[in-house]
Amino acid sequence: MSVTAIIAAAGSGERFGAGFPKALIQLGNRTLLEHAVACLAPVVDQIVISAPAGFEAQISELLGEGVVIVTGGATRSASVRNALAVTTGDYVLVHDAARALASSDLARRIVAALKDGEIAVIPAIAVVDTVKVINPDGYVASTPDRSSLVSVQTPQGFVATALRQAHAGSEDATDDAALIENGGGTVKVIEGEARALKITTPADLNTALTFLGFNSTYRTGTGSDAHAFGVGRSLWLAGLYWPDEVGVDGHSDGDVAAHALCDALLAATQLGDLGSNFGVDRPEYAGASGVQLLQETLVKITKAGYSISNVTVQIIGNRPKIGKRRAEAVSVLSQALGGAEVSLSATTTDGMGLTGEGKGIGAIASALVFKQ
Ligand code: CTP
Ligand code: MG
Repeated sequence: MSVTAIIAAAGSGERFGAGFPKALIQLGNRTLLEHAVACLAPVVDQIVISAPAGFEAQISELLGEGVVIVTGGATRSASVRNALAVTTGDYVLVHDAARALASSDLARRIVAALKDGEIAVIPAIAVVDTVKVINPDGYVASTPDRSSLVSVQTPQGFVATALRQAHAGSEDATDDAALIENGGGTVKVIEGEARALKITTPADLNTALTFLGFNSTYRTGTGSDAHAFGVGRSLWLAGLYWPDEVGVDGHSDGDVAAHALCDALLAATQLGDLGSNFGVDRPEYAGASGVQLLQETLVKITKAGYSISNVTVQIIGNRPKIGKRRAEAVSVLSQALGGAEVSLSATTTDGMGLTGEGKGIGAIASALVFKQ
């Protein structure tokens, strides 16, 4: 049993207001129509596209040989009818190019229900708003019980002969299932999906971008650390060993720059702080290097679904002088963070405070992370 998909793409997209057909609007890296084709191609044997008059050649060039293109009609139903005239499948899925992001899984579930013996199968999602029936004069006529209402989507699946018959004997309707209903046929409802939303306005395009992972959530975090110089310690700072400098005390290697960066990343991702993740109650981290803690922090934030946009760290102290080894340090820190963009600066505090008095070294860091 073969399956044809009809993609209704002949609308002008008045409400979107792009000045050209809505099906040709770009969503991420492809047009709405290309997304719709990509959704259905793995599930069907034939794809017929109802194109806006005058755009047939452009669409043919866009999609290549694998699809059949017909000219659409004045209404959506007319566009579907024009496509139905050339379909070869035993089953037909009718899909709106405007529902560009419907998944192949949804199309598969529709086909499976048809193969199970249904004549017509449509996806639907629950209505969240209370719906009113109103009179033309702007007054409410009635309030239907919301629990029995759903919003319907496409692709809608049909036994081809039933759909042809329904289209032959009916007026236009806003969806194909209505024509089957009008003829007394049964229409099975299955669970639809949020990503199959109909893109009607530019705001809908923005929502659709979210489903493609384009709209990221950004979060910032800050972190700081300071350690006092200690007798007989080596200095590790910003991922580097500084052989001629006095080291600092600490549970780990005392790399304040690396620690401040870890704290900033943990804060941005709401994963706690250095102490709660690698503190003194975790003996396995005693003597851990700053680089190791950065690597482990990266693992934790990656597991939580975050990626690093960039991090910055400023070292606060009289010594060591950072400038000459800045590039080296940035490279080591960046490597520990999976190649993230790192900036490193240094400052003194005019002789004041722990670091200005030469008693230790501090660092302050910021991180910008994003989640898709
Ligand atoms: N459609 C069609 N032929 C028509 C009208 C609509 O093939 N004569 C298609 C549209 O291309 C769209 C789907 O039917 O994929 C759903 O229609 P809608 O979202 O209303 O799109 P448009 O009619 O293009 O938009 P508008 O109503 O804002 O003009
Ligand atoms: Mg329309």
